[in-house]
Amino acid sequence: MLRKPFLVIVLGAMVACGGSNKTDTPPTAPPPPEKKATVSSAAFGELPNGSAVTIYTLTNTNGVEVRTIPYGAILVSVRVPDKAGKVDDVVLGFDRLDGYLGAHPYFGAIVGRYGNRIAKGSFTLDGQTYSLATNNGPNALHGGLKGFDKKMWTAELVDHEGNVGVIYRGESPDGEEGYPGNVKVQVTYTLTRNNELSVEYEASTDKATPVNLTQHSYFNLAGEGRGDILGHRLTIDADRFTPVDATLIPTGDQVAVENTPFDFRRATPIGARIDADDEQLHHGGGYDHNWVLNRDRDGLIHAARLEEPASGRTLDVSTTEPGLQFYAGNFLDGTIKGKSGHVYAKRSGLCLETQHFPDSPNHAGFPSTILRPGERFRSKTVFTFGVTK
Ligand code: BGC
Repeated sequence: MLRKPFLVIVLGAMVACGGSNKTDTPPTAPPPPEKKATVSSAAFGELPNGSAVTIYTLTNTNGVEVRTIPYGAILVSVRVPDKAGKVDDVVLGFDRLDGYLGAHPYFGAIVGRYGNRIAKGSFTLDGQTYSLATNNGPNALHGGLKGFDKKMWTAELVDHEGNVGVIYRGESPDGEEGYPGNVKVQVTYTLTRNNELSVEYEASTDKATPVNLTQHSYFNLAGEGRGDILGHRLTIDADRFTPVDATLIPTGDQVAVENTPFDFRRATPIGARIDADDEQLHHGGGYDHNWVLNRDRDGLIHAARLEEPASGRTLDVSTTEPGLQFYAGNFLDGTIKGKSGHVYAKRSGLCLETQHFPDSPNHAGFPSTILRPGERFRSKTVFTFGVTK
């Protein structure tokens, strides 16, 4: 007696439920899987010593995909949509690890311990003179013969509330490439849901040393391998730049950009003045200079904006650094075959390297690049990809 009413109720409920399904609402398809940012790993090859190199792929839900390897903490590809939604890879580089192991001008790499030039490979710090390899005419460039761009970093993957990334860590022993102090470095790439690729640097040392780290991607917003960057429109938020001598070492002056081909305070096609008869442009074979960013406060400030008119792609660069080296790819000469066999001709990609000024250890008037024991080096740059309306 006790069981009967219970059964009736249950059956009744089932019947009522089934009936209402049939008559009122058609069966619904299962909801599409929720779109998610992802981070994944795959094999990319081996170093000559047999170490495996993994490639990490970061994606967000807007169709942006960034691939990076721990060798050189290199950004291998950055795929972003254009204004019609068509996705292209906007950085120069190689399809395979071999390309990155061969000679190339720092495609996609993290550059250090000192990005940019140090005059005659020499600086004096706390009364001691240090000698570095001169690997760029009479000067030291980008950390030496085996800089951070050729280092194998450890990797830790991050996946946090729609932001995906990789933390690379490395050590640079005392005396490496002539620099003093054991330096520990960490570089974090994060791809956000807002199409920002942020690069955060941290470092510490046990002896005073210069540190100047930067990201050396060559951008072409039309897509890598699609011609030169002369039609890209560039804005740089800087009233002054640091003129250089014929070997690209700053004279120490900070000169107004007004009435010079270095005035990018309003969006201007890169090609408009790059071959002007100007002594500074002759020294660089085009733009290869440091701009002094207009800074009215500490922290992240907008530094530059790049726009490619045909694709509508845009790139905004913000940074905590005082300077921006805009290098127009003048020394690319068609001898490198990159992705899909594309020949990288002169000015087929450009670098926007946020950093301290070149040769700072030899210029007391420039912001200091010296990191001392007990201090923590922190720097951040954000590359934000978008499209014109
Ligand atoms: C420098 C150029 C150099 C290039 C590749 C850039 O950061 O400014 O002068 O040719 O790196 O080494």
